Amino acid sequence: MTAERAGNRAAEAFAERFGGLPEGVWVAPGRVNVIGEHTDYNGGHVLPIALPHTTRAAVSRRDDGRLVLRSLQHPDDDADVAVADLEPGTPSGWAGYAAGVVHQVAGSAPGGLSVLVDGDVPAGAGLSSSAALECAVALALRDLLDLDLGPGDLVDVARRAENDFAGAPTGILDQSASVLCTEGHALFLDTRDRSSEQVPFDLAAAGLALLVLDSGTTHHHAASGYGDRRRECEEAAARLGVDLLREVPDVAALDALADGTPEGGRLHRRARHVVTEDARVLQVVGALRSGAVPRSIGPLLTEGHASLRDDFEVSVPLLDACVEAAVAAGAHGARMVGGGFGGSAIALVEADAVDAVTAAVADRFAREGAPAPRSFVAVPSAGARRLR
Ligand code: GLA
Repeated sequence: MTAERAGNRAAEAFAERFGGLPEGVWVAPGRVNVIGEHTDYNGGHVLPIALPHTTRAAVSRRDDGRLVLRSLQHPDDDADVAVADLEPGTPSGWAGYAAGVVHQVAGSAPGGLSVLVDGDVPAGAGLSSSAALECAVALALRDLLDLDLGPGDLVDVARRAENDFAGAPTGILDQSASVLCTEGHALFLDTRDRSSEQVPFDLAAAGLALLVLDSGTTHHHAASGYGDRRRECEEAAARLGVDLLREVPDVAALDALADGTPEGGRLHRRARHVVTEDARVLQVVGALRSGAVPRSIGPLLTEGHASLRDDFEVSVPLLDACVEAAVAAGAHGARMVGGGFGGSAIALVEADAVDAVTAAVADRFAREGAPAPRSFVAVPSAGARRLR
């Protein structure tokens, strides 16, 4: 669907639900991270691209003080609350991500809002459907309420909605990707000083494709596991006397963590993932600076997966199987993406090998007793913007 059609579809659905066209329609994408996983809350680097899959928000102001939210993807789950009554966790579910953003600027939105949401970012697949919704709504509020918010402020508003309202203690990767990514590029972001660079990422010109494979699993420990990893990283940093693991110069400097206790050994592994992963981001970016996408970045992706699996322990057997099968079928490299404990993997493949690799992974899943993964080719796409 073209962006224009998507915008019109949201506007028409808005008119059907609320009567009258919306004041505007805003769009924001999901993401995959090429490399740099679990580095963002450690002050490290990340390298996401925006997906062509987006969330659209058709929005109008209202004058009765209410926030009315409707999603075409959750037709039986409208939310209707007074803006003044918004509080973390209420409403919950899909509506909480949109409400959380309104809550951030509630002082500026006493009049209320009607919001119709439509989108095609697969939910629960580790592709940041929640950040896409937050960012589309944040952009709408900036324009409609005339808020003085730059791109970095939009990222913060959206991220605080996720942290404070929806209660997920994430870093800034997902919202930064959704707001800041541009077509044809990967976003090289330093999460400590927030400086960023658009790195050309023209896979097609190199005869390559980035395949996304959704394992279809989400572990019920995902949220608590993520919080545990954050705390372990903070503890490791505290024991090393640094504010953020980003400040650790190299792996040798982590030796002090391995004090012979199981806890020390675990913190050492967690920190080793962060330090080596950050170095992998810099290596991949260095390789991309040649202007082309070299096949040599593939093995760095696979190393990143091994590190997430063995040192950070956030992978699951089905994601490991996915990566193994993809690489065995000729992928240059593959890794799980996002927070882990389920979700999707990416594989860097020759453009003409997409079908063969997809089939090999589906075969392997069948042998594991799992349904074939949903898959698509990720093209680096545009970040959040107004559609109409
Ligand atoms: C989730 C979080 C991000 C980031 C990744 C792991 O997607 O929302 O902030 O920490 O996990 O890289």
